[in-house]
Amino acid sequence: MMDIVLLGAPGAGKGTQAELLREWLPIPRVSSGDLFRAALEAGTPLGLKAKSYMDRGDLVPDQITIEMVADRLARPDCKDGVIFDGFPRTVAQAQALDRLLSTMGRQIDLAVYIRVSEQTLLERLGGRWTCRAHGHVYHRLYNPEQVPGICDIDGSELYQREDDTPETQLRRIQVYLDQTAPLREHYLKKGILVEIDGEQDIMAVQGDLRAAVRQSV
Ligand code: AP5
Repeated sequence: MMDIVLLGAPGAGKGTQAELLREWLPIPRVSSGDLFRAALEAGTPLGLKAKSYMDRGDLVPDQITIEMVADRLARPDCKDGVIFDGFPRTVAQAQALDRLLSTMGRQIDLAVYIRVSEQTLLERLGGRWTCRAHGHVYHRLYNPEQVPGICDIDGSELYQREDDTPETQLRRIQVYLDQTAPLREHYLKKGILVEIDGEQDIMAVQGDLRAAVRQSV
């Protein structure tokens, strides 16, 4: 049983690393951003509520986000642990997650902060293409798909996220600095924070991440 949180600014590589880690560990990845985008695609009330916040690059209110993740966490595939990607994003979300896990006799075992410079974040967000069906991510330069415009894994169309415009990218980074960066302190105090160098290539970052997981068990 293992519960892991991936922390990092927008474009740091949380989704990319969580997906690779999921192939190695027998636990699912829970991405709050993917859950919101799926709700939006399905046109549910949750998706419609989230849309205006996401379009601006702001955080969706804690209450809505926590309820959505709590529902996901209650599903059977999460019983042996989860890789949290993009959640928690505020101290209130982290405290809610701690409470939720403790009712299940669990706790966050490892929080990994993926450190990347602002210049690299903007380069990565600017070249990102995302698959329509399952959110697999590619990069024009650093991780290109084999057939242009088509996801290697499920054959679906690739698109650029609406919140990847230059203005929204900057807003998301600012929101991260204001509201999410303080979370590092939350996990540091618990003695479970590990920092890794996210400037390396994708597989080198994954190597460091797996080493951190091995050391924490
Ligand atoms: P979300 O979907 O979580 O977006 P994000 O945090 O902004 O993170 P990203 O998905 O942009 O980046 P990433 O770190 O996963 O990087 P990736 O692996 O894709 O959130 C979107 C919105 O939803 C929020 O703005 C908010 O409105 C709402 N939301 C979500 N969660 C919320 C919450 N908990 N509370 C409130 N609101 C919430 O990589 C980026 C690119 O770089 C890719 O192209 C990739 O191929 C490339 N790349 C990755 N790693 C490397 C590497 N090492 N070298 C070279 N290229 C790399």
